[in-house]
Amino acid sequence: MTIIQSQQQAVLTLTLQRPDKKNALSSSMYLALTDALQQAELDPSVHVVVLRGQENCFCAGNDLADFVAAGALNAEHPTVMFLHALSHFSKPVVAAVAGLAIGIGTTALLHCDLVYAAPGCRFQLPFTALGLCPEAASSLLLPKLMGHQKASQYLLLGEAFDSEEAYRFGLVNQLVAADQLFALAAQKAQQLAALPLEAVVQSKKLLRQPQQQMVQQVLHQELAVFEHLLHTEACQQALHSFFNRSKS
Ligand code: COA
Repeated sequence: MTIIQSQQQAVLTLTLQRPDKKNALSSSMYLALTDALQQAELDPSVHVVVLRGQENCFCAGNDLADFVAAGALNAEHPTVMFLHALSHFSKPVVAAVAGLAIGIGTTALLHCDLVYAAPGCRFQLPFTALGLCPEAASSLLLPKLMGHQKASQYLLLGEAFDSEEAYRFGLVNQLVAADQLFALAAQKAQQLAALPLEAVVQSKKLLRQPQQQMVQQVLHQELAVFEHLLHTEACQQALHSFFNRSKS
């Protein structure tokens, strides 16, 4: 089981649980997350979803092994299904981030509603170094959050940034000590869950609606470019280098 589900009152918590691979998201994890979100969407007993990893790792991004033999990034692809489910999810999603948040570990946060992080996290979007391009509509949402130049620093140069920086530009709501992170995220989620559900759902819709069409459009444009780049020599070479790197 690499996605653990647990429900306390009206809060469903989804925990990424693949610590030996730094919670890199495999196809089966994307499918489990998608299924959980789809069920939570329909389940009136769920008002809020919490997304988390462990105290030392949120997510090291897409499982790079799946990029090696990538098929078409169409609507049936597990990553695409997850992005669709997350970006259309009508109830609030609260993320609790500690340790690593790489690739989709960071871009997924752009689709969450509240993000709490432990100090000293490493956020990174190393798409270009992998011969790839932004995904999850991050080429739209990241510059919107921090401006073009900062977004270029992270999406073109692929520089890492820390929790303090993520807090400064508004990706993160609050920094909280790692040993209190999950308790705080759970508390905020319960606070949200206690509010009238329809008012919260309608409010989230109003917050997201002005850019929803653009988000979906950009998300699909990115996928087309991403699919093309996956098959380039630069990308396959970068993947080969990752899996054949020497470890100190
Ligand atoms: N896909 C597949 N496997 C991954 C992975 C990923 N995204 N991230 C980590 N892993 C695996 C490693 O291959 C390793 O497996 P192994 O023990 O069987 O060799 C294990 O997780 C631990 O990773 P390791 O690299 O030894 O840990 P580290 O603490 O030295 O470094 C990272 C952690 C995340 C910085 C490093 O693993 C990394 O750069 N991963 C790739 C991140 C990435 O590019 N994600 C995709 C963005 S689009």
